[in-house]
Amino acid sequence: MGMTAATPDTSALLGVYRPAGPVFVAGERAWLVSEEGDRFLDFTSGIAVNALGHGDPDVAAAIRAALDAGVVHTSNLFRTRPAAELAEWLVEHSFADRVFFCNSGAEATEGALKFARRWARSLGHDGRTDVIAFRGGFHGRTMGALAATDRPAYQAPFAPLMPGVHFAGVDDVDGVAKLLAGGTVAAVLIEPIQAEGGVLPVKPGFLQALRALCDAAGALLVFDEVQVGLGRTGHLWAHEPAGVAPDLMTLAKPLAGGLPMGAVLMTERVAAAMQPGDHGTTFGGGPLVASAALAACRKIGDPSFLAEVRRKSHELANHLGALALSNPRVRDVRGAGMIWGVEVEGSAAGVVARALEAGLLLCTAGPDVVRILPPLVVSDDELRRGIDLLDEVL
Ligand SMILES: Cc1ncc(COP(=O)(O)O)c(C=O)c1O
Repeated sequence: MGMTAATPDTSALLGVYRPAGPVFVAGERAWLVSEEGDRFLDFTSGIAVNALGHGDPDVAAAIRAALDAGVVHTSNLFRTRPAAELAEWLVEHSFADRVFFCNSGAEATEGALKFARRWARSLGHDGRTDVIAFRGGFHGRTMGALAATDRPAYQAPFAPLMPGVHFAGVDDVDGVAKLLAGGTVAAVLIEPIQAEGGVLPVKPGFLQALRALCDAAGALLVFDEVQVGLGRTGHLWAHEPAGVAPDLMTLAKPLAGGLPMGAVLMTERVAAAMQPGDHGTTFGGGPLVASAALAACRKIGDPSFLAEVRRKSHELANHLGALALSNPRVRDVRGAGMIWGVEVEGSAAGVVARALEAGLLLCTAGPDVVRILPPLVVSDDELRRGIDLLDEVL
């Protein structure tokens, strides 16, 4: 145990978060260590960012090499190798032909919305500017992304937001068809698993229906894989099991091994509508973040790594299934891979607070859902231990 340091004074930080408990100073794989030397099992992964856990040696080596080379940033006025190689890797491993790099999930959402409008306009459909998003969906906090996010409480203080967003219910094929029939919709935006909204997997059949509806109506299908993409489900992309590809896909959280980075992946027919000067972002795809991302993507994208995530996810699913049967405070468990929601009786925030005291880091996904996001490199023993702790806390 180290010396107890004074709690840092966070009063100069804008009060939009209420950071809890310990001050973390070190980490190793699935563990975070506090200033006091206490170890916490991290089943938040920094809200799905730290897919490779803390202190991944390959990501660290890539960051060190980029620093040693001395080129952290050049701007997109010039060519750099890591961004080009990362874009190539993403294209080779997905439906996409082109990639735009940015800095966060919300910025990726904004990019996708702009690209969809630009595409519609390039075809002469000037009136096709609307978006269909879904009840329970979450796409970020900027004005366009927030408009497409089904959280009236987050939206109201900042109105007016971007106009033209229609909300449909997940599984409501007829409702989406009716909205598309108006001819005003450029894009349909959906998370293959609604993560913030309560860890609600969308049925493959609904994603397939959206694909067919978008094709028939001449609208673009956008998958938001900011939280569930890049290995989180045990597949490289969360939409893979549905057997349909989108026209655009947003990525962010795990992309650069913990550094801030977002991306919009798209097909050539969408990319062809965008011309130099149509969109931009100063930091997007800089050599430091792109080097880290290349290391993270190569590691996560290895088929044997993903097979191991799927194997462990069966263990986790079994533990959670047993918990649901044995613990009367559990109403439901659902999820895939290494993202699960445990619907509880009472307050999820209360469970998260008690778990923190017991040495387990969890987060919520709505008022009564505890969200479990272990790093993809978690061990069988750590999964067992985490779910045992959750059982005790419940
Ligand atoms: C599905 C989804 N899209 C977009 C975002 C926004 O990402 P960011 O917080 O990086 O802006 C999030 C963040 O939680 C998310 O879960």
